[in-house]
Amino acid sequence: MPKRFLCPAARVAPETVVRVDLAEGPCVAVYNLDGAYYATDDVCTHGDASLAEGVVDGTSIMCPYHGGTFDIRTGEPTGPPCIAPLRTFRVTREGDDLYAEVE
Ligand code: FES
Repeated sequence: MPKRFLCPAARVAPETVVRVDLAEGPCVAVYNLDGAYYATDDVCTHGDASLAEGVVDGTSIMCPYHGGTFDIRTGEPTGPPCIAPLRTFRVTREGDDLYAEVE
């Protein structure tokens, strides 16, 4: 999988999520959980909602449409109506920037 630039780390404040639209790739939601960075698909697996517009609560992201939740670290659904997991992408920090292996 190609390693791709996501954004400057400073763009993702602690306990928040931002949307990154990768050229020729998916939209990715990038999270900062107490200084640890994670990335998942941005589009909810239940419908056409941007998870970056949702709410980070601990290690969960709550979808803005129907309130479904996922574990940010694993992509597993943790609350209805979500059933299918999100794809997750390992994030690495190099200097001031964040990268992830995203297809
Ligand atoms: S679209 Fe995300 S919970 Fe329905």
